Formats: sequence, C-alpha cells, structure tokens
Amino acid sequence: MAGTNPYMKESAPDPPKKAYNIRFMPMDEIIQVNPDNLSESVAGHPGSILQTALNAGISIDHACGGVCACSTCHIIVREGAESIPEITDSEDNMLDKAPGLQLDSRLACQAVPDGSCDLVVEIPFWNRNLVSEGHE
Ligand code: FES
Repeated sequence: MAGTNPYMKESAPDPPKKAYNIRFMPMDEIIQVNPDNLSESVAGHPGSILQTALNAGISIDHACGGVCACSTCHIIVREGAESIPEITDSEDNMLDKAPGLQLDSRLACQAVPDGSCDLVVEIPFWNRNLVSEGHE
C-alpha cells in the first residue's frame, strides 16, 4: 500500500474489503478487484476507481495526479454508486468544474468502492486516452 499522500486534502477512504468487478464503459471491459492483491496506487486514493483503471491499462485523464485538484478524472457511476462513500466537499467543489456533470458523476481518483457490489462506470469520451492503448 502507498503511504500518505501529502497533497491529499482529506484522508483516504478505506480500501475495499471484498472482491468485486468494475465494468468500464463504453469499452465494455470488466476488471476484477481483489482486496488481497491491491497494487500500489500511482494516482488517486488506494483502491480508487482511477487506480483500478490505470492498473488495468484503461486510461482516464488525471491531470493533477489524483489529488482532487482538477476534474479531468470525471467518471459517471452507472451502477453500484451505493458502494462508494459519500462525496466530500473537496470532491464536490472540484467536480462542479467538470463538463457534462450528471447526478452520478464522481472523481475517479477520490471514489473508493467498498466492494459490497459490482459497478458499471462510464468514462466520458473527453477523459479517455484509449486510442493509443487499443481499447477501442
Ligand atoms: S485526477 Fe485530478 S481530481 Fe482526480
């Protein structure tokens, strides 16, 4: 597990305790998350949707490096939002700047599912860098 990120304004939510799946759309790629096998986070809270995506080779923009200081990691949680802790004031303030905001919008670097259910997550096309990674 990664240590404490000094640029994070708030403490990280607990990482997932149960195994679960995230289905990333529109590429329709299902990634299994195993809490016993979480690798070090390169960006975002440990166990975040951003970390899961990046570790699986699914690119989501993350201009600030996952410290809740931009809105480029904006995602829409189509299913399973109940397994993610409520949005913090910092995330909410940053998310307000994201284009295409929807009711189930979150920042992928801040959203850490608890593993209680599977998720379906849509990556808005303007936040994807998929062409170069062969996911479309
Ligand atoms: S990467 Fe900047 S807020 Fe998530």
